[in-house]
Amino acid sequence: MITRTIFLCLIIAGIFSCRQEAAQEVSAPEKHRPRWHFTPPSMWMNDPNGMVYYEGEYHLFYQHYPDGSVWGPMHWGHAISRDLVNWQHQPIALYPDSLGYIFSGSAVVDWNNTSGFGHDNTLPIVAIFTYHNMAGEKAGRNDFQTQGIAYSLDKGRTWTKYAGNPVLSNPGIRDLRDPKVIWHDATHQWVMTLAAGDHVRFYTSPDLKEWSYASSFGKNQGSHRGVWECPDLFSISPEGEELRQWVLLVSINPGAPNGGSGTQYFVGQFDGQEFVLDPAQDPGVYNWIDLGRDNYAGVTWSDISLKDGRRIFMGWMSNWQYAQVVPTTSWRSAMTLPRELQLKKSPRGWRLWSRPVEELKMLRDSSFTLSPQSLTGKIQLDEILGFPPTLLEVLLEVEIGNNSQSVFGLEWHNDAGESYRVGFDAPLGLFFSDRTRAGKNDFSSDFANAIHYASRQVEGKIVKLHVFVDVASAELFADDGATCMTDIFFPSKDFDKLNVYAQNGPVTLRKAEFFLIRNYGITNYE
Ligand code: FRU
Repeated sequence: MITRTIFLCLIIAGIFSCRQEAAQEVSAPEKHRPRWHFTPPSMWMNDPNGMVYYEGEYHLFYQHYPDGSVWGPMHWGHAISRDLVNWQHQPIALYPDSLGYIFSGSAVVDWNNTSGFGHDNTLPIVAIFTYHNMAGEKAGRNDFQTQGIAYSLDKGRTWTKYAGNPVLSNPGIRDLRDPKVIWHDATHQWVMTLAAGDHVRFYTSPDLKEWSYASSFGKNQGSHRGVWECPDLFSISPEGEELRQWVLLVSINPGAPNGGSGTQYFVGQFDGQEFVLDPAQDPGVYNWIDLGRDNYAGVTWSDISLKDGRRIFMGWMSNWQYAQVVPTTSWRSAMTLPRELQLKKSPRGWRLWSRPVEELKMLRDSSFTLSPQSLTGKIQLDEILGFPPTLLEVLLEVEIGNNSQSVFGLEWHNDAGESYRVGFDAPLGLFFSDRTRAGKNDFSSDFANAIHYASRQVEGKIVKLHVFVDVASAELFADDGATCMTDIFFPSKDFDKLNVYAQNGPVTLRKAEFFLIRNYGITNYE
């Protein structure tokens, strides 16, 4: 009897302690998990999809495999935010069906109910996506990617697939995917931009259901070192100008300048049928939205009000070279911060600048400022900051002299001898992001094989570095967003030390502000 009681107690104690461990596991975020970047509740995520704004809510859908932490049968995961910062997870929006997996695509508010899906003053949100049919692919066919639509009549909460899917069949183009749809006001029709392997194709429609081919662009433009994916087409007014230009984003994998996946862009005119490159844009010069390795498949939000007027972009913060083997287990990958795009004229043609959206300022917590001073060598900051340096926003303004030989920036490190550096190499005229010694990298020989460089887009003696670090990622917005670099890293112990440094010559630190970033509120659905 006694032994039985002890046995029972042991079992009960065992269960209790197991439960406690489980509870702790849930509350303590897994190592390397970002605290304020969007991540899926669990398992695999890639491209952002269907980003649309409606009635005060930003919707973010994403490529999601809820049953595994590597790529698999694609669903559309879903989250909603009222401010681009605090996200609430929603139930999965779209599941694979007999026509295929649900690949990337977009969503629009059908303001005029052209689709007829709306009723009783309820407007539909319509999602347009690619069906990827595995059986067709395995059978060696070329027409296994078709385009389908689904609609929601309850502000994006639930979705019904259109019974007439697919709305666009495939004429035999192996890679034909990732529809981005816009309303083209001047011609009063919908325009779909589709990636087609080595070019994009435009289709038009009166009702989102019947599509006609309009034209193609890109066979002889831009980079062709990989497959074209995830296009976006939008008009934007360059700063200080009335005239609107059209921007075409095209992700390419592989073939990005620093390796693997990247996003190039073109600037020109679009008349509802054809995209024509701006004469000021050299077809041989490739422009990239971000020169780090971890900003891919990014597109912009649809239906942001004219009053707001912003063009807001978000990308997937990873790279197909290693996305499936990065050292995380319960979830894989995060999105970049939301960024506002701006178009500016430079002596070398049009350039897209990216800035972190204003809303991110609401995450700023304690701050620390260094007084202006000359900098040679390093200032160890962690001892004076008063908060950990891995949930951080930094704004530096650095003055360099004529013919400066200085290499300067920020360095995060730990006592395992690992470090990550980001900064500017004045003699080379290049920004750099260096994760070559930033921790775990044995999972892929491509991950830490080189320092990433990006050329400076503006001139002047003041170099600005605006950097966000969130446990396992850094996003650099240099010179007010003229040059961007986004990179992830996996230190074996969190970086707990930070210094600002200048080597090979002094620089003047004009401004140095540091903000602790508060965990954002990501919650589950109601
Ligand atoms: C880009 C991409 C898309 C495709 C999706 C599949 O990362 O390859 O072209 O629709 O991912 O998950």
